[in-house]
Amino acid sequence: MKVGVFDSGIGGLSVVKSILEHNLFEEIIYFGDTARVPYGSKDKNTIIRYAIEAVEFFKNFEIDLIIVACNTVSAYALQEMGEAAKCPVIGVVEAGVQATINALKDKNSNILILGTKATVNSKAYENALMQNGYQNLNAKATGLFVPLVEDEIYDGEIIDAVFKHYFDPLESSPDALILGCTHFPLISDALQNYFGKETKLIHSGEAIVEQMEKKFKFTKKYTNPTIKFFASENPDALKNVAHKWLGLK
Ligand code: DGL
Repeated sequence: MKVGVFDSGIGGLSVVKSILEHNLFEEIIYFGDTARVPYGSKDKNTIIRYAIEAVEFFKNFEIDLIIVACNTVSAYALQEMGEAAKCPVIGVVEAGVQATINALKDKNSNILILGTKATVNSKAYENALMQNGYQNLNAKATGLFVPLVEDEIYDGEIIDAVFKHYFDPLESSPDALILGCTHFPLISDALQNYFGKETKLIHSGEAIVEQMEKKFKFTKKYTNPTIKFFASENPDALKNVAHKWLGLK
């Protein structure tokens, strides 16, 4: 199985991390559109256009499956990507919704959805959760986290100031915090510290692995997969972060 993983930048590496922990694929082709990140401040048509270009990029490889490791693209362009691709295309939003449902039995649970402006405006998480009976939902666009993560700033004074900007005053910590952007797991320790241990963090990477393990019958474990990294700008910077974050040699 050869998988293509797509994100606007380095955020999708958080999904690759989960895939590697579960040894699911023999070969991983990662593509980050670093020349055009962030997608979260762009409009629907632009996001769809970029997403279809990513599908074209993956056509250079014999890919069995494309994982859209970007909530923004998953919220707006999954269908169009599926139509343009020669293989199945799956996204992280549906998986994140399912993971939230699995994690929270109480439908009155207080859920805070974080995402880019585009993801929050799409109401993709809210609509799906409301259809499943959850009512106590809040969503916040926290797009500033994206350039911070792209700049490898994961904690410290700047992160604290940005948390204060977005979350202060916080009435109470939510029961669950949906990390509705794949860049956000890179600051999950800082978020967990801020909201406290009781808040469950929903992570796109873990969610999509759980979904794939249910959906596809993986018969083999690949402990030594090949990973190739591509970026539309400065691929060496992406490779550096990937090696650090994924602990690759
Ligand atoms: N990592 C992306 C997401 O999951 C988007 C970041 C961006 O390009 O704004 O939404």
